[in-house]
Amino acid sequence: MKLWGRILWTLLCGPGGRRGAPQGWGLNSWKSHSSLPGMLSATRVVRHWTQVFEERGIPEAQESSEYIVAHVLGAKTFQSLKPVLWTEPLTPKQLQCIQELCSRRLQRMPVQYILGEWDFRGLTLKMVPPVFIPRPETEELVEWVLEEVVQRPPALVAQSGPLILEVGCGSGAIALSLLSQLPQSRVIAVDKEEAAVSLTRENAQRLQLQERIRILPLDVTSEGCWTHLLPWGPVDLVVSNPPYVFHKDMGQLAPEICSYEDLVALDGGEEGMDIITHILTLAPRLLNASGSIFLEVDTRHPELVSSWLQSRPDLHLSLVAVRKDFCGRPRFLHVQKSAP
Ligand SMILES: C[S@@+](CC[C@H](N)C(=O)[O-])C[C@H]1O[C@@H](n2cnc3c(N)ncnc32)[C@H](O)[C@@H]1O
Repeated sequence: MKLWGRILWTLLCGPGGRRGAPQGWGLNSWKSHSSLPGMLSATRVVRHWTQVFEERGIPEAQESSEYIVAHVLGAKTFQSLKPVLWTEPLTPKQLQCIQELCSRRLQRMPVQYILGEWDFRGLTLKMVPPVFIPRPETEELVEWVLEEVVQRPPALVAQSGPLILEVGCGSGAIALSLLSQLPQSRVIAVDKEEAAVSLTRENAQRLQLQERIRILPLDVTSEGCWTHLLPWGPVDLVVSNPPYVFHKDMGQLAPEICSYEDLVALDGGEEGMDIITHILTLAPRLLNASGSIFLEVDTRHPELVSSWLQSRPDLHLSLVAVRKDFCGRPRFLHVQKSAP
């Protein structure tokens, strides 16, 4: 280990350079080495923590290290820091803060929870465990919905609307990004988890979008739940990134997910269809004639949903389009209501 690394290691871990569990790391060592932290630049600290993360098998070692250091220095990314801050010595307070945040990463906490916020389609959303962290592919679902809305007759879009129902709003990522892009739209956002409902509410307020969103605690599997939504409808669109992971695949999820995110947000039951089928059953009662449902799903779902819909002609729904994600996997569904 190079000299600066040994100094930093001593500062962070105590004189013994403990490599065990991150608990009880040597914060007291600041006192005895108070003149040394000034020697450590952001670039060196990033390099150090990248190495520590790599040695401990932490995924995305460099990205994690860069995000944490940038965050402590008041930026979103390391690359967006003023170049002078890459080489300027960090203060003891900054080093201590970086240490605290990096020790959480060593315990496999996702970076998004460590930073307490994350960007989704240009909106900065507050993140609080265990509420689901929005994933990049969901940005593509939103993009597709926006494309479809823009193709509607101008009069319909310009007057008021569309009115959108989002099922399973989590942090509010989908609902709030649609509202921010569609100034005439309104959203009803529901989630069965109180933590998600209150986080969506807080994010709506932070983004000043609270006037056009109604956020309700609702379990879409509960008997007659659609009656609670009727007074707010009828809606033009239903959008959802529901829990869709096949139950047998839950065991393969990364420790970051299993230990910190709400598994209710992921587990879709035996074939990942439990919540999807409830949404498809509920939607026709709430949708306008020719209204649409947009869903994010697993790659096995286009076929499963298509055959499930054929078995339920009473719902008057058809799968009209399937879209691939940026990895080329079929992940998004457009289901449309047709006249009875
Ligand atoms: C995959 S997360 C999606 C969160 C957010 N829309 C996003 O894309 O980041 C699924 C969400 O559905 C919610 N959920 C799960 N079961 C539900 C149910 N029966 N009724 C309503 N919401 C449910 C979870 O609490 C979670 O917030």
